[in-house]
Amino acid sequence: MKQRLMVALDVASTEEALNIQSQLAEHVAWFKVGLRLFVAEGAPLIKKLLQSHKVFLDLKFHDIPNTVAQAIESAGALGVQMVNVHAAGGADMLKRSVAAASAFPDMKLIAVTVLTSDCMPAEQAKKLAVERAILAKKSGLDGVVCSVHEVASIKAACGNGFIAVTPGIRWGDQDIQDQKRVADPTFAIQQGADYLVVGRPIIQAAIPANAADEAVTMMQRGLQC
Ligand code: C5P
Repeated sequence: MKQRLMVALDVASTEEALNIQSQLAEHVAWFKVGLRLFVAEGAPLIKKLLQSHKVFLDLKFHDIPNTVAQAIESAGALGVQMVNVHAAGGADMLKRSVAAASAFPDMKLIAVTVLTSDCMPAEQAKKLAVERAILAKKSGLDGVVCSVHEVASIKAACGNGFIAVTPGIRWGDQDIQDQKRVADPTFAIQQGADYLVVGRPIIQAAIPANAADEAVTMMQRGLQC
């Protein structure tokens, strides 16, 4: 299950990121680098992380098709194993992204459907997420980022092989913070999520490795029941 847990390195510097990476080295296989860290530290940090882990570059590209395709080429050249665009960018942008990513067969290209922090009513979010997932699938992408509550509908519409990456993971009495549509690791696996993205519940824990192990244990429980 640790192959399916992605820890969001939402920190400000290479020093902090590598400190977390070393604490979690044996506990997770993936790190997710988002806007804050990439803007601050860029490609050199990605290369360091890639020496021992897989990297999901979560920059949610959303621009005109040519610009996004060029950004995907740059992500592929970095050697990351996963990158994303925003499905709201539309069919042309998605198709151009797929064409650009095809030069990097080891890199998965996925689309954000609806942010898990979006406050639209749950049913509306699910409908939009499924519509955007279908568009992403038709455009040739490998999968989507969605909330746990949308995974089953998306898999039903797009097939089991279509990857579902789910942020908005919380368990126990953790604060949901700015997330709206949250779920715990056991339920996420039961719903069919392929990868779970966890940020603050792990990186801000007193002992991040223990929090990561706890998430993995809960994920394993999802396979058993
Ligand atoms: O700290 P927390 O577990 O809420 O972090 C979730 C991570 O997943 C953040 O890095 C956030 O940018 C990212 N994310 C998200 N919802 C999406 C896509 C990405 O929360 N739809």
